[in-house]
Amino acid sequence: MQVLNKKKELLSALDNFRKEGKSIGLVPTMGALHKGHLSLVEKSNKDNDITIISIFVNPTQFNDKSDLKNYPRTLNNDVKFIKTSGFCDIIFAPSVEEIYPEPDNREFNLGYVSTVMEGARRPGHFNGVAQIVSKLLYLVKPNKAYFGMKDFQQIAVIKSMVKLLSINVDIVSCPIVREIDGLALSSRNRLLTYEHRKNAPIIHQTLVDAAKKSSTLNVEDLKSFITNKINENKYLQVEYVEIVEQESLKIILDLKEKNSKVICIAVQAGNIRLIDNMVI
Ligand code: PAJ
Repeated sequence: MQVLNKKKELLSALDNFRKEGKSIGLVPTMGALHKGHLSLVEKSNKDNDITIISIFVNPTQFNDKSDLKNYPRTLNNDVKFIKTSGFCDIIFAPSVEEIYPEPDNREFNLGYVSTVMEGARRPGHFNGVAQIVSKLLYLVKPNKAYFGMKDFQQIAVIKSMVKLLSINVDIVSCPIVREIDGLALSSRNRLLTYEHRKNAPIIHQTLVDAAKKSSTLNVEDLKSFITNKINENKYLQVEYVEIVEQESLKIILDLKEKNSKVICIAVQAGNIRLIDNMVI
């Protein structure tokens, strides 16, 4: 496994693989890797001859400066973790200057899917995601790129971007990996205090209970049930709960609609913002 920091080195390694007719899978990440990231790398390894993971804390997608400053950076451990797995061929870990030698002023029109939920609360976030993911896709030109359902809306936005830019790549979505107590794995979990970490699994437990109630309650009552149950806990504060159609992200008004539905939630746990979702 190689660890590369420069675009030139990456391009020359990729050239060699392509000459050999090898298929390439890309897993974009911001590092502080955990088993959720690893599940994407493992899937790419199964599907492709060559797997590349990128590790880059992308400044343009952080609407909150202190979130960017505090974001965990653990490159040495990440390299060991990925090397030990044996699933990956290249780690691409560039500097900010390498990716943005000049400011990226591109503004994408990513449509409705980028405007609701996270899009409404984190101005500029998805535009920044589109900037970095498009740069990585142009650079690596993978056959497939892998993303986690943990960031359910991000997948819809990336699919919209790929369509807008006519990039020829399969976007593969992978299931959420959770801790034993149900908390969705996230790089930000390590920033939780002991008390917030202890109480955070209530988010997933509540979504499980809500899924069971979804055949008997209406949308507003189901959303109130979720909000009240989580807000009862003094360490957690719901920012939003939405029930949306899985593909279009259209807001569901009637739970009897046949379409596949997803409950999406953002919760503030002290200074840390956690997101989760569940298909019902
Ligand atoms: P990051 O938060 O590091 O996540 C990288 C990928 O891992 C994303 O596709 C995310 O959905 C997936 N992932 C994170 N936690 C997961 C879990 N518990 N189970 C399954 N998959 C999980 O998402 C980003 O970085 C960035 O926005 C990025 C796409 C890299 C652009 O900078």
